[in-house]
Amino acid sequence: MDFNLSEEHKLIRDAARDFAQMELLPGVIERDNAQEFPESLVKKMADLGFMGIMVDPKYGGSGMDTISYVLIMEELSKIDASASVIVSVNNSLVCYGLEAFGTEEQKINYLSPLAKGEKIGAFCLSEPEAGSDATSQKTTAIAQGDHYILNGTKNWITNGGRADIYLVVAQTDREKGHKGINVFIVEKGMEGFHIGPKEDKLGIRGSDTHTLQFNDVKVPKANRVGDDGFGFKFAMKTLSGGRIGIAAQALGIAQGAYELALKYSKERKAFGTEICNHQAIAFKLADMYTEIEAARLLVFKSAVDKDLGRNYDTSSAVAKLYASKVAMEQTVEAVQIHGGNGFVKEYHVERLMRDAKITQIYEGTSEIQKIVISRSVLKD
Ligand code: CAA
Repeated sequence: MDFNLSEEHKLIRDAARDFAQMELLPGVIERDNAQEFPESLVKKMADLGFMGIMVDPKYGGSGMDTISYVLIMEELSKIDASASVIVSVNNSLVCYGLEAFGTEEQKINYLSPLAKGEKIGAFCLSEPEAGSDATSQKTTAIAQGDHYILNGTKNWITNGGRADIYLVVAQTDREKGHKGINVFIVEKGMEGFHIGPKEDKLGIRGSDTHTLQFNDVKVPKANRVGDDGFGFKFAMKTLSGGRIGIAAQALGIAQGAYELALKYSKERKAFGTEICNHQAIAFKLADMYTEIEAARLLVFKSAVDKDLGRNYDTSSAVAKLYASKVAMEQTVEAVQIHGGNGFVKEYHVERLMRDAKITQIYEGTSEIQKIVISRSVLKD
């Protein structure tokens, strides 16, 4: 078993690292303050192939593997988790779902512009009364001739105001429970589709999060993705891959905070020496390094499972559960090592600490990951 990266993977990682340093870092504090969506940076990420990392080149994607995706997500997230969540949702939740389960026509019309980054995607599952309990969808899609009529509200939708193509989960037959759920492609501008106000968030403030309203939106039947009743499984399958992306985001946030803390500890002096020479700080750094290494192995394990065609439902939940815990705990430690400076925006670690929290919430809270993992271990 070789834990080292291939030369090709190193090149991909370095390209993402250079981009993050040169393009994402300048202005990251200002974007966070102003809750500014990084529009021009999304275009640059598209030019690098980051919006369709794993998509087949015949649909405009980069044709890379999941390890490459994880490496790119880690590098972007070390600097700017608001930018990386745009990449993660577009890749894992929208492009993957369309490529795996869409028709050829849907791939040409919708996947291709998304993979090229000409358009941005959003994944609409959460509702005011159906967050973790994803089977309890209140949004309905009623078949009528060659259309479905879509009604309902979705909230906390990443890319909500900026997306062009929305995958919307809705109940088509309540009697059938999760087998009466479908996923529809909805385009911005369809009559009756309204974008609500932007959320004012604790972290990932540069990402664009909205409530969406669907009032009698006429969606062509050709826009249903997958067989009738496949929507819930579509969402679960898609979210398993999404969890690898968010686990990699958490890993990047933790790694970014660790690198800042390490550098600071070698520069800052107290009691006559650099603070890294005090065991109180050195031991913190040792713990941070160890925890982040452990998280990295779990993230890579899940990515390898996906690349090798193995089941990754459990390994992605394990990776997300652990990496998000590490991100939360180790960003707090990074702030602590920085002392008073850690509480100040220009040192970056307070933003990483705020950004870390969402990794324990979206694409399934930590408690949801434990449901997935415990069901898996109890089944064995
Ligand atoms: N792949 C394929 N099928 C799956 C599956 C998977 N990973 N997981 C479950 N299923 C299938 C089951 O086999 C079952 O099918 P059968 O009846 O045919 O056997 C069916 O789906 C129902 O499964 P469960 O009985 O396990 O469903 P449940 O109601 O108990 O819910 C849950 C399971 C894990 C709690 C699920 O509801 C869940 O993951 N909830 C969290 C949702 C979530 O992550 N939301 C985040 C929103 S998206 C987001 O955050 C994006 C963003 O902005 C960044």
